[in-house]
Amino acid sequence: MMGSDEGIPLQDTGQVRFRMRNTITVMNAKGGVGKSTLVLALAETLAAFHNKKVLVVDSDAQASISHMLMPQQQLTALQDEGQTIVDYLIGAVLKERNQNWRHFVISGVSDVDDARSVDLLPSDTSLTLFEREVSKGERETYLRRIIGSCLREAQQIYDFILVDSAPGLSVLTECWLREAAFYLSPTRPDYISTRGLVFLRKFRQRNPEMGFAELLGVVVNMKDPQSSDDDQYDRWLRQNAENRCFNQSILRVTPLQAAAYYSASARSYWAKYPGQTGNQLRQLTDELLRRIAEAQVQ
Ligand SMILES: Nc1ncnc2c1ncn2[C@@H]1O[C@H](COP(=O)(O)OP(=O)(O)OP(=O)(O)O)[C@@H](O)[C@H]1O
Ligand SMILES: [Mg+2]
Repeated sequence: MMGSDEGIPLQDTGQVRFRMRNTITVMNAKGGVGKSTLVLALAETLAAFHNKKVLVVDSDAQASISHMLMPQQQLTALQDEGQTIVDYLIGAVLKERNQNWRHFVISGVSDVDDARSVDLLPSDTSLTLFEREVSKGERETYLRRIIGSCLREAQQIYDFILVDSAPGLSVLTECWLREAAFYLSPTRPDYISTRGLVFLRKFRQRNPEMGFAELLGVVVNMKDPQSSDDDQYDRWLRQNAENRCFNQSILRVTPLQAAAYYSASARSYWAKYPGQTGNQLRQLTDELLRRIAEAQVQ
């Protein structure tokens, strides 16, 4: 069984059409491999070059991607006003309030002036407390149902939904992995990061009847072009067909490190991701779009 948004026919103005499988959880159990950075860059590339409407879901209590996509002051205000994904989930899952996740979405985030179609469900540190309450109250099944219905609604409104997950494997991350159509795993070309991939693969195989997203592929990130160790790991990862490695690896470069800092003044895509970096991200995005298109017809 795949994630639950798999090619389900929908009645639409008299015609039968198929829901596009467009929900992607970005996940590696290992921290610091570039999950948030790649969610950011993919969302901005899809918006700027492919005219896609993208929803970024921040499912990490660190709120890294929220910080990358909006000014600190705006994020703090949203957190203070109770306008984050945590507030939505507390209401929907713990209080069983009938509320709409769309009221918690911030439109037109990103500091790239040609990436105006990126929306965000921002996060907050209290996400961890919410997850503890879910576990204490044994509400995991209900949480999964809410996550599934959010994704099914979002897939009708957005071209792509990218979920940035926390390191480790929380109850919430498990829900995104089981309910999304696809997952994508960034890794650094080193031993510990690749162990995170193995862990995820084993977890996927444990309860196949519970459903799981389909692997879109592994992205090798932060590769040092001068390092022969990195090159060896890159090749070793590619030898294992189960990884479905993307052809395009992403190099460790200053612009991608700097991309984590939201710029107060809007800038062009090429100013944020100059030269080779922008080219690599565009290649990666093209590959991603091809793989998603191929997966629709299977
Ligand atoms: N290709 C790259 N080149 C240079 N720096 C990078 C690159 N990718 C990510 N970084 C930097 O590496 C650090 C970790 O990246 P990021 O926060 O995206 O990882 P993560 O997997 O989301 O981490 P976490 O598990 O904590 O959520 C950040 O400082 C980021 O700016
Ligand atoms: Mg992150």
